[in-house]
Amino acid sequence: MKNKNDFPMLDSNVVYFDNAATSFKPNRVIDKISDYYTSYNANSHRGDYDISFRVDDEVDYVRDLVKCFINAKRKEEIIFTKNTTESLNTIVFGYFQNYMNEDDEVILSTAEHASNVLPWFILSVKKKIKLVFVEPKNNKLDINDIIDKMSYKTKVVSLAHITNVMGDKRDIKKICEIAHKKGILVVVDAAQSAPHIKIDVRDMDVDFLAFSAHKMCGPNGVGILYGKYELLKKMVPFAFGGGMNEEYNASKLILTDIPYRFEAGTQDLGSIIGFGEAISFLSEVGMDNIERHVKYLKRYLLRRLDELDYIKVYNRNCEGSTVIINIEGVLSGDLGLYLNTKNICVRSGRHCVKLGNSVDDTVRISLYFYNTYEEIDYLIDVLSDKRGIYDYAN
Ligand SMILES: Cc1ncc(COP(=O)(O)O)c(C=O)c1O
Repeated sequence: MKNKNDFPMLDSNVVYFDNAATSFKPNRVIDKISDYYTSYNANSHRGDYDISFRVDDEVDYVRDLVKCFINAKRKEEIIFTKNTTESLNTIVFGYFQNYMNEDDEVILSTAEHASNVLPWFILSVKKKIKLVFVEPKNNKLDINDIIDKMSYKTKVVSLAHITNVMGDKRDIKKICEIAHKKGILVVVDAAQSAPHIKIDVRDMDVDFLAFSAHKMCGPNGVGILYGKYELLKKMVPFAFGGGMNEEYNASKLILTDIPYRFEAGTQDLGSIIGFGEAISFLSEVGMDNIERHVKYLKRYLLRRLDELDYIKVYNRNCEGSTVIINIEGVLSGDLGLYLNTKNICVRSGRHCVKLGNSVDDTVRISLYFYNTYEEIDYLIDVLSDKRGIYDYAN
């Protein structure tokens, strides 16, 4: 779908099917970062000279790009963090820690990534709030099960938009509509959706949303925390230091404006600037095109897997870009390592999801728009060697 020359890693000898873990980076993102370090390496908001002003402008521009990319109302609602994990932790400890009291409840699903479970676990220890889990049925979350769990004690529902293992896509708009009628806030972990589908925070009416640049053609070290401005006004910074204070003395601290009060210390400026380039790149390719292409690839992969009756596919009914498989009698780790001997990169194990009933160790094949039908054919050829796989594993 995209020119092979766009991504230097596509020239390597690996067939990369671990895109849910992290994506390849296009040349133009790498060049943009390199340009920052070679042409205008300076800090932001600190220098009275041109190259520092340029950094300010570039970072500001990226904030605007992200705002448009997710259709936020104002750019102050976009906070740069390190990754989805840091965004979710900031939301939990910066906002909900102050807003939830003993016995208040948060609704989660058992299919959430650890980054959307563990901060809540810690909050439950600190504040004695209750975690209420909904178990997906046949890998899919039933909205009615969430509604059933809602009570006057529920303060927040925190869910992945698309789950990282089974690829269950949740109807966040509907969930927000129902939750808001009951005065419940909604936090969305968009780590697996932002790379694949158009995100519209205003249409969905989400209260907080988090995602990572590195899963969507951007560099490591940058995450986004989106929050409605009115909520951000009530959020307390997670980190304190330079860049987030307007004034302080021994007894008083005045915070800078939103969003800067949530961005203490020097940020990964080169990566933020690189992320802007990734967003421009994705926008040029078109999120609809990305979604469509991955859907066709996945359909093809599933059809080809059908040819191999010893392969169990777990998540045919899910919408995400992941296909979860196992071969009876072969440990998922062994299958992953076998594929590695053929230069195919997949992920095996439990994929950072350790709750719920569907916790088998599995092999995850995760696709992105630069994958090709030929790569899938090669995977199927390799998987067709049943004897070779069993010999390797035993
Ligand atoms: C659904 C989901 N949430 C959160 C994360 C954590 O992302 P990061 O490691 O970039 O913080 C991941 C990473 O795989 C994920 O898939």
